[in-house]
Amino acid sequence: MRLIALGDLHYPREGKLFYQFLNVIEKEDLDLILLCGDILNYGNAQYLRDFLAKVHRRTSAKILAVMGNHDFWLSKSMIKKGLTSWHLIEIYDKILREYNDILLWDKEFVIDDIGFAGVPGWYDYSFAPWSFRMNRWVLDSGYYMGYQWNDFIYTKFNMKVEDILKIHLKKLRAQLNRLKMAEVKRVIVLLHFVPLREFVLTRNSPEDFWNAYLGSEKLGLEILKYSDIVRYVFFGHTDRRNLARDIVEKNGIFFINVDVSHNLEHMFVLNIS
Ligand SMILES: [Fe+2]
Repeated sequence: MRLIALGDLHYPREGKLFYQFLNVIEKEDLDLILLCGDILNYGNAQYLRDFLAKVHRRTSAKILAVMGNHDFWLSKSMIKKGLTSWHLIEIYDKILREYNDILLWDKEFVIDDIGFAGVPGWYDYSFAPWSFRMNRWVLDSGYYMGYQWNDFIYTKFNMKVEDILKIHLKKLRAQLNRLKMAEVKRVIVLLHFVPLREFVLTRNSPEDFWNAYLGSEKLGLEILKYSDIVRYVFFGHTDRRNLARDIVEKNGIFFINVDVSHNLEHMFVLNIS
């Protein structure tokens, strides 16, 4: 089985990179395309259909996807209709099914004895540089040094960040438990957010503030409980230039960043059997 893993295409940002991506999936003889979130720039049903139509015109590969924080961004009209970011999960799930693709959230996927589990994950400020002058209030406002963390403007979950993360962890645990029961040979996990502290780049400058929104060490800790079956974890959300490293191997699991927002070469091609 041949697959590629990548994240952060941010469609309809149709630059050179998006066309390079279409060319790659056309040339490679792929069985699966693993998308690690931020598929779109904000949650929009029509953009998602356009994206999937463009991909499937080039390949017969099946897409397995998790959403990213941008996929949870609501448009003004959605907010007017009373929708929350949670509703976008149902919308993405329905549209991906229309194209015979899969959103990993409520259910895992198995093919040829290989299991796939995934959730976006979220952040809980565990990577925040607490040594700097900051507090919970500043982190929750997302406003720092004249910049704004836009999730707090465009997403609407109606709960604290750590409670959002808890729901994602519960979904991931349920998928991994079922895969374990099913006795699959190995498991690949898709995430959007950064799962291990080893990836966090500390510059000892105010820029480190933004590490607060990179992800959570709880994601990695949860996955490491399943090191007997999990072999690869792919995630996106942040470009490698903002990370301390691209790959971490821990307990026989390879954690790999595949954010292609600045370079398509950061995708990962894998032959697995
Ligand atoms: Fe992201």
